[in-house]
Amino acid sequence: MTVLHIDASINGDNSASRVLTQSIIDQIKGSSWGEEIVYRDLAAEPLPHLTLDQFADTSVLDEFLAADTVVIGAPMYNFTLPTQLKAWIDRIVIAGRTFRYSESGPEGLARGKRVIVALARGGIYSEGSPAAALEHLETYLRDVFNFIGIEPEFVVAEGLNLSPENRQQALDFAIGETVRLAA
Ligand SMILES: Cc1cc2nc3c(=O)[nH]c(=O)nc-3n(C[C@H](O)[C@H](O)[C@H](O)COP(=O)(O)O)c2cc1C
Repeated sequence: MTVLHIDASINGDNSASRVLTQSIIDQIKGSSWGEEIVYRDLAAEPLPHLTLDQFADTSVLDEFLAADTVVIGAPMYNFTLPTQLKAWIDRIVIAGRTFRYSESGPEGLARGKRVIVALARGGIYSEGSPAAALEHLETYLRDVFNFIGIEPEFVVAEGLNLSPENRQQALDFAIGETVRLAA
Protein backbone atom coordinates (compact mmCIF):
# COMPACT_ATOMS: atom_id res chain seq x y z
CA MET A 1 0.00 0.00 0.00
CA THR A 2 1.28 3.45 -0.87
CA VAL A 3 0.48 6.41 1.35
CA LEU A 4 0.95 9.94 0.10
CA HIS A 5 1.55 12.38 2.98
CA ILE A 6 1.11 16.05 2.13
CA ASP A 7 1.73 19.08 4.33
CA ALA A 8 1.07 22.68 3.39
CA SER A 9 1.43 24.73 6.59
CA ILE A 10 3.95 27.58 6.66
CA ASN A 11 4.20 27.27 10.46
CA GLY A 12 6.92 24.63 10.65
CA ASP A 13 7.22 23.00 14.07
CA ASN A 14 4.34 25.12 15.43
CA SER A 15 1.90 23.75 12.89
CA ALA A 16 -1.19 21.97 14.20
CA SER A 17 -2.01 20.36 10.85
CA ARG A 18 1.51 18.91 10.67
CA VAL A 19 1.09 17.37 14.14
CA LEU A 20 -2.18 15.81 12.99
CA THR A 21 -0.95 14.44 9.65
CA GLN A 22 2.07 12.93 11.45
CA SER A 23 -0.24 11.33 14.00
CA ILE A 24 -2.33 9.80 11.19
CA ILE A 25 0.82 8.51 9.47
CA ASP A 26 2.08 7.05 12.77
CA GLN A 27 -1.25 5.28 13.27
CA ILE A 28 -1.19 3.87 9.75
CA LYS A 29 2.40 2.69 10.19
CA GLY A 30 1.56 1.14 13.58
CA SER A 31 -1.56 -0.69 12.45
CA SER A 32 -0.05 -2.70 9.61
CA TRP A 33 3.21 -3.12 7.77
CA GLY A 34 4.81 -2.66 4.40
CA GLU A 35 3.43 0.77 3.55
CA GLU A 36 5.49 2.97 1.35
CA ILE A 37 5.15 6.55 2.59
CA VAL A 38 5.73 9.26 0.00
CA TYR A 39 6.12 12.72 1.52
CA ARG A 40 5.49 16.06 -0.17
CA ASP A 41 5.97 19.34 1.74
CA LEU A 42 4.23 22.02 -0.28
CA ALA A 43 5.55 24.82 1.95
CA ALA A 44 9.21 23.73 1.75
CA GLU A 45 8.98 22.97 -1.97
CA PRO A 46 6.08 24.95 -3.39
CA LEU A 47 4.66 24.03 -6.77
CA PRO A 48 4.50 26.99 -9.14
CA HIS A 49 1.10 28.38 -10.05
CA LEU A 50 -0.43 26.42 -12.87
CA THR A 51 0.45 27.47 -16.40
CA LEU A 52 -0.49 25.82 -19.69
CA ASP A 53 3.09 24.52 -20.04
CA GLN A 54 2.82 22.68 -16.75
CA PHE A 55 -0.01 20.46 -17.97
CA ALA A 56 2.73 18.53 -19.77
CA ASP A 57 4.35 17.57 -16.46
CA THR A 58 2.14 14.89 -14.90
CA SER A 59 4.51 13.91 -12.08
CA VAL A 60 2.28 15.30 -9.31
CA LEU A 61 -0.81 13.67 -10.83
CA ASP A 62 1.00 10.34 -11.25
CA GLU A 63 2.16 10.46 -7.62
CA PHE A 64 -1.46 11.05 -6.52
CA LEU A 65 -2.83 8.28 -8.75
CA ALA A 66 -0.24 5.82 -7.43
CA ALA A 67 -1.34 6.34 -3.81
CA ASP A 68 -3.93 4.12 -2.11
CA THR A 69 -4.28 6.53 0.81
CA VAL A 70 -3.65 10.27 0.83
CA VAL A 71 -3.17 12.19 4.09
CA ILE A 72 -3.39 15.96 3.70
CA GLY A 73 -2.66 18.72 6.21
CA ALA A 74 -4.89 21.68 5.43
CA PRO A 75 -4.50 24.87 7.48
CA MET A 76 -7.16 27.56 7.02
CA TYR A 77 -5.72 30.72 5.54
CA ASN A 78 -8.12 33.57 4.85
CA PHE A 79 -11.16 31.32 5.13
CA THR A 80 -9.91 28.75 2.65
CA LEU A 81 -6.94 26.60 1.67
CA PRO A 82 -3.33 27.84 1.36
CA THR A 83 -2.31 28.75 -2.16
CA GLN A 84 0.37 26.04 -1.93
CA LEU A 85 -2.32 23.38 -1.53
CA LYS A 86 -4.43 24.92 -4.30
CA ALA A 87 -1.47 24.61 -6.69
CA TRP A 88 -1.39 20.86 -5.86
CA ILE A 89 -5.16 20.51 -6.38
CA ASP A 90 -4.76 22.21 -9.77
CA ARG A 91 -2.44 19.38 -10.80
CA ILE A 92 -4.65 16.49 -9.75
CA VAL A 93 -8.05 17.65 -11.06
CA ILE A 94 -7.43 16.77 -14.68
CA ALA A 95 -10.05 16.00 -17.32
CA GLY A 96 -9.70 12.50 -18.70
CA ARG A 97 -7.53 11.35 -15.75
CA THR A 98 -9.40 12.11 -12.51
CA PHE A 99 -12.78 13.20 -13.94
CA ARG A 100 -14.62 13.26 -17.22
CA TYR A 101 -17.77 14.81 -18.56
CA SER A 102 -20.36 12.28 -19.66
CA GLU A 103 -23.87 12.67 -21.04
CA SER A 104 -25.19 12.41 -17.49
CA GLY A 105 -22.81 15.08 -16.14
CA PRO A 106 -19.34 14.99 -14.58
CA GLU A 107 -17.98 11.64 -13.44
CA GLY A 108 -15.14 11.13 -10.94
CA LEU A 109 -12.43 8.73 -12.12
CA ALA A 110 -10.26 8.60 -8.95
CA ARG A 111 -12.59 6.29 -7.01
CA GLY A 112 -11.18 3.78 -4.54
CA LYS A 113 -8.68 5.98 -2.74
CA ARG A 114 -8.88 6.90 0.91
CA VAL A 115 -8.29 10.60 1.49
CA ILE A 116 -7.92 11.84 5.07
CA VAL A 117 -7.69 15.60 5.59
CA ALA A 118 -6.42 17.15 8.83
CA LEU A 119 -7.93 20.63 9.08
CA ALA A 120 -6.52 23.34 11.36
CA ARG A 121 -8.49 26.55 11.90
CA GLY A 122 -7.68 29.46 14.19
CA GLY A 123 -11.34 30.31 14.78
CA ILE A 124 -14.55 28.29 15.03
CA TYR A 125 -16.57 27.55 11.91
CA SER A 126 -18.43 24.36 12.74
CA GLU A 127 -22.10 24.00 11.86
CA GLY A 128 -24.30 26.38 13.79
CA SER A 129 -21.46 28.73 14.79
CA PRO A 130 -21.76 32.43 13.82
CA ALA A 131 -18.86 32.17 11.34
CA ALA A 132 -20.03 28.91 9.71
CA ALA A 133 -20.85 30.68 6.42
CA LEU A 134 -17.20 31.79 6.11
CA GLU A 135 -15.94 28.22 6.01
CA HIS A 136 -14.52 27.63 2.51
CA LEU A 137 -11.82 25.11 3.39
CA GLU A 138 -13.63 21.91 4.41
CA THR A 139 -16.50 22.67 2.03
CA TYR A 140 -14.13 23.27 -0.89
CA LEU A 141 -12.01 20.18 -0.24
CA ARG A 142 -15.09 17.98 0.15
CA ASP A 143 -16.55 19.31 -3.13
CA VAL A 144 -13.35 19.00 -5.13
CA PHE A 145 -12.63 15.44 -3.93
CA ASN A 146 -16.28 14.45 -4.48
CA PHE A 147 -15.92 15.82 -8.03
CA ILE A 148 -13.11 13.36 -8.76
CA GLY A 149 -14.99 10.46 -7.12
CA ILE A 150 -13.65 10.47 -3.56
CA GLU A 151 -15.46 10.98 -0.24
CA PRO A 152 -12.76 12.52 1.97
CA GLU A 153 -12.63 11.99 5.74
CA PHE A 154 -11.87 14.98 7.97
CA VAL A 155 -10.15 15.44 11.31
CA VAL A 156 -10.80 18.97 12.56
CA ALA A 157 -8.88 21.05 15.09
CA GLU A 158 -10.49 24.47 15.40
CA GLY A 159 -10.46 27.43 17.75
CA LEU A 160 -6.68 26.95 17.86
CA ASN A 161 -5.91 30.66 18.18
CA LEU A 162 -8.55 31.53 20.77
CA SER A 163 -6.36 30.71 23.78
CA PRO A 164 -3.56 28.31 24.69
CA GLU A 165 -6.13 26.18 26.57
CA ASN A 166 -8.43 26.05 23.54
CA ARG A 167 -5.48 25.10 21.35
CA GLN A 168 -4.45 22.24 23.63
CA GLN A 169 -8.02 20.99 23.98
CA ALA A 170 -8.67 21.13 20.23
CA LEU A 171 -5.41 19.36 19.44
CA ASP A 172 -5.98 16.64 22.05
CA PHE A 173 -9.47 16.03 20.66
CA ALA A 174 -8.23 15.91 17.05
CA ILE A 175 -5.34 13.59 17.90
CA GLY A 176 -7.93 11.27 19.47
CA GLU A 177 -9.86 11.43 16.20
CA THR A 178 -6.75 10.50 14.19
CA VAL A 179 -6.45 7.33 16.28
CA ARG A 180 -10.12 6.50 15.64
CA LEU A 181 -9.84 7.21 11.90
CA ALA A 182 -6.72 5.16 11.33
CA ALA A 183 -8.09 2.18 13.31
C1 LIG B 1 -1.90 33.68 6.58
C2 LIG B 1 -2.84 33.14 7.60
C3 LIG B 1 -4.20 33.31 7.43
C4 LIG B 1 -5.09 32.80 8.37
N1 LIG B 1 -6.43 32.94 8.17
C5 LIG B 1 -7.30 32.38 9.04
C6 LIG B 1 -8.71 32.46 8.82
O1 LIG B 1 -9.19 32.99 7.85
N2 LIG B 1 -9.53 31.90 9.74
C7 LIG B 1 -9.05 31.26 10.84
O2 LIG B 1 -9.83 30.75 11.63
N3 LIG B 1 -7.72 31.16 11.07
C8 LIG B 1 -6.84 31.70 10.19
N4 LIG B 1 -5.50 31.59 10.40
C9 LIG B 1 -5.05 30.82 11.56
C10 LIG B 1 -4.73 29.39 11.16
O3 LIG B 1 -5.84 28.75 10.58
C11 LIG B 1 -4.29 28.60 12.38
O4 LIG B 1 -3.12 29.23 12.91
C12 LIG B 1 -4.01 27.15 12.08
O5 LIG B 1 -3.44 26.56 13.22
C13 LIG B 1 -3.07 27.03 10.88
O6 LIG B 1 -2.67 25.69 10.70
P1 LIG B 1 -1.18 25.24 11.06
O7 LIG B 1 -1.07 25.38 12.57
O8 LIG B 1 -1.06 23.84 10.60
O9 LIG B 1 -0.26 26.18 10.35
C14 LIG B 1 -4.60 32.11 9.49
C15 LIG B 1 -3.21 31.94 9.65
C16 LIG B 1 -2.35 32.45 8.72
C17 LIG B 1 -0.87 32.23 8.90
